[in-house]
Amino acid sequence: MEIALGCDHAGFRLKEQIKQHLQAQGIVVSDFGTFCENSVDYPDIALPVVKAIREGLFPLGILICGTGIGMSIAANKHAGIRAALCNDPYSARCAREHNDANILTLGARVIGPGMALEVVDQFIKAQFKGGRHQHRLNKIALFES
Ligand code: RB5
Repeated sequence: MEIALGCDHAGFRLKEQIKQHLQAQGIVVSDFGTFCENSVDYPDIALPVVKAIREGLFPLGILICGTGIGMSIAANKHAGIRAALCNDPYSARCAREHNDANILTLGARVIGPGMALEVVDQFIKAQFKGGRHQHRLNKIALFES
């Protein structure tokens, strides 16, 4: 599995921790930046990650900002993107199983690194359950025009 990672300045440290955590599990990570704590605008990072996922280059992405909210709003403007802001492992699992989320967003100023890594693990491990959940996602897809 290959995961696309991106963050703004507020998410930089957590992005580095997540990158190490994933690589230690043998997961290939493509890092779309940012690469230091100098201020950047989160939509500028969200866009290339979203584009790569929409093009089918990665099955999943992780976007990190201060709250996770800005990244979530930016990513969810794009058709085919289901970005879920998850601050706990249960939400992360359900985001995959029920919502077929293809991007996890995290708030580096909201949760600590220990919890964030558990959230990431659940998000990556869980599988979409389809069935009635697919039916509901089909209805959401009709909003995209
Ligand atoms: C940056 O200060 C902050 O606004 C950003 O990281 C994010 O939290 C926005 O939603």
